[in-house]
Order: sequence, then C-alpha cells, then structure tokens
Amino acid sequence: MNYARVIGTGSYLPQKILTNTELVEMVDTTEEWIESRTGIRERRIAASDERTSDLAEHASRRALDIAGITPQELDLIVVATTTPDHVFPSVACLLQDRLGIHNGGPAFDVQAVCAGFVYAIDVANRFFRTGASQKALVVGAETFSRIINWTDRNTCILFGDGAGAVVLEAAPEPGIISTHLHADGKYHELLNVPAGVSANYEQVLKGEAYTQMQGSEVFKWAVKALGDIVDETLAANNLGKSDIDWLIPHQANIRIINATAKKLSMAMDQVIVTVDRHGNTSAASIPLAFDEAVRDGRIQRGQTVIMEGFGGGFTWGSILLKY
Ligand code: UT7
Repeated sequence: MNYARVIGTGSYLPQKILTNTELVEMVDTTEEWIESRTGIRERRIAASDERTSDLAEHASRRALDIAGITPQELDLIVVATTTPDHVFPSVACLLQDRLGIHNGGPAFDVQAVCAGFVYAIDVANRFFRTGASQKALVVGAETFSRIINWTDRNTCILFGDGAGAVVLEAAPEPGIISTHLHADGKYHELLNVPAGVSANYEQVLKGEAYTQMQGSEVFKWAVKALGDIVDETLAANNLGKSDIDWLIPHQANIRIINATAKKLSMAMDQVIVTVDRHGNTSAASIPLAFDEAVRDGRIQRGQTVIMEGFGGGFTWGSILLKY
C-alpha cells in the first residue's frame, strides 16, 4: 500500500487588509470586543474581480514550486471550497485548466465548509492508499467575503479570504498517518447560508445569500467536537499528547484554539496561529497556517503535526501527519 507525503506547500492572501478599526465604522462594534472575543485584528478581502480560482491558482503555483514538479505530473486535484466561482464546473476543473493540464486525472471540489481541507486531504489520501494517485494537489480556497452580510456584526467581523495548497506524493511510509472525519446534519440551522440553487434562489439573485450563525451555540459545539477528535486521533494511533510536535487548528476563534491546545496540554508556542491576521478563511485556514509555519521554519521535516477543523453542517475532522 502507498502512503501520501507532503512535498510542497503554498498559500496566497489577497492584498486588501480590512482592520478592526475599519469595521467599527461599518457596524456597531468595538476593536476591543472583536479582539478579546475572537483574537482577530485584521483579515484579507479579495478584490471584486478576484475569484476563488485566482486565489487557488496562486497558492497552487507556490506549492508546486516548492515541490519541484510540473503541473503535468499531477494525477489528481481536489479543491475544498464553499465559495466556488460558479455553480459548475468545479474550481478544481478551472484550476486544472489554468495550470495547463489537459486530459488529466480527476479534478473535483469538496464542500465541507471550514472542515473542507481536512475532508479533501482524507479523500486524496484514499487515492494514494489504493494506488490510484502518485502526485496530487489539494487546495483550500475561499472568497468567503462574498457570502457575508457586511451589516451583520455577528458574522462580518469573523471571516476573510485566502487560499492554501499542498502537493502530495506517493511514499513507502507516511506522510499522512491517519484522518478522522465526522458530520452531524442535525445542526445545519446553527451555521448556514440558507439560499442556493434549489432553495431561496431569489436571495441569490438579489445578492443576499449570506452566512448566518448562532455563534455561542457553534462555539460550544466546536470546543467539544475538537476536543473529542483530538482524543480520537491520539487513541487510534496509540499516541500520547507528548508525541505531537505541532497543532494546526482551524482558525475560527482564538478562544476555541486555546481550548484545544489545553486539551492537548500544548504550550501556545506549539500551536500555529494566524487567526489574528487572517480571520476565519474557512477551508483555506489550515493550509494557510501550515504553509506559513513551514516557510518560516517552525515545522521541520520528521515532526508530527495534528490538524483539526470544524464547520457548518456540522462537519469536523482531523489529520495526523509526519511532515
Ligand atoms: O468556522 C466555523 C465555526 N465557527 C466558529 O467556530 C465560530 C464560533 N463562535 C464564536 O467564535 C463566538 O461565538 C462569536 C465570536 C461569534 C461570538 O462570541 P460570544 O462570546 O459567543 O458572544 P455571544 O454570541 O454570546 O454574544 C454576546 C453579546 C451579544 O449581546 P447580548 O445579546 O448579550 O446583549 C451579541 O449581540 O455580544 C454581542 N455581539 C457583539 N457586540 C459587539 C455580537 N457580535 C458583536 C460584535 N460587537 N461584533
């Protein structure tokens, strides 16, 4: 059986920075409230002509550069996104075309909101385990700002845009050690955009298909689910907390991140935090944080990393990998 290992990471953030100071001018909030309740100081917002596929392409090219392979060597592209350019085709197909790959392997999107990257890695990993892929590109890319009501203080302070990518290659040893996915659709009403193609399409046409969230309910659930998934991941691999070098959590709220770090008995200098500068970039948040920590030299080859995500659905999951 083949395993998958990471041979390149890349990321991309749009140029425009939206600060808490600017948000105070837009909604009834304070800089102190945003920073103390969420840990967020600023987030990036895509330009009006910048699409999810653009962000994905920049991040992918950077990951391919580090991996030292050409796009034509890829036999699989999986993109995690909840904010695709179009209803169809997928961002993955648009990306494949941009990368100049024709008559290539499968390319498709995975939609699991903020757990999307974890889901996408799980799916790609299964292609490696069965021998169906030798080199794959897995991307998390979002223009979440497009589904935000910029007059709703409950949500508009939280989200941002960006993309992160990894290139995976088949290897005789992991790499990706294990993945753990869960969902519970019973909670779909706590965090959603209640409009789309086959429901409330008129809201889409009016440009009013917005994210809505019962924040404190989601918060409680996220803390519980992420604590449990960490336990599940360690138990499945017969590992103790001290075997983990790095935690890369989904970047939704510093208080949720702190709770998971505490559960793992990890000092905060073993936790990759970008939420202060990126906000919540949904499926992009984990690969963005991963790329930052690889490039600045914190995460080193041979170290053990746990990634965990939680999002609308609810969906949640983890990845355990040796970098
Ligand atoms: O990525 C997917 C998963 N998403 C998450 O994990 C997000 C989870 N939720 C959260 O991060 C937090 O629940 C929030 C940051 C969204 C909210 O923080 P909270 O400490 O749970 O606050 P709350 O929702 O309990 O609201 C407390 C008060 C409310 O006022 P009242 O009803 O007590 O008078 C809100 O109306 O804070 C008010 N509030 C605000 N005040 C100033 C809500 N948003 C704001 C705001 N500025 N932006």
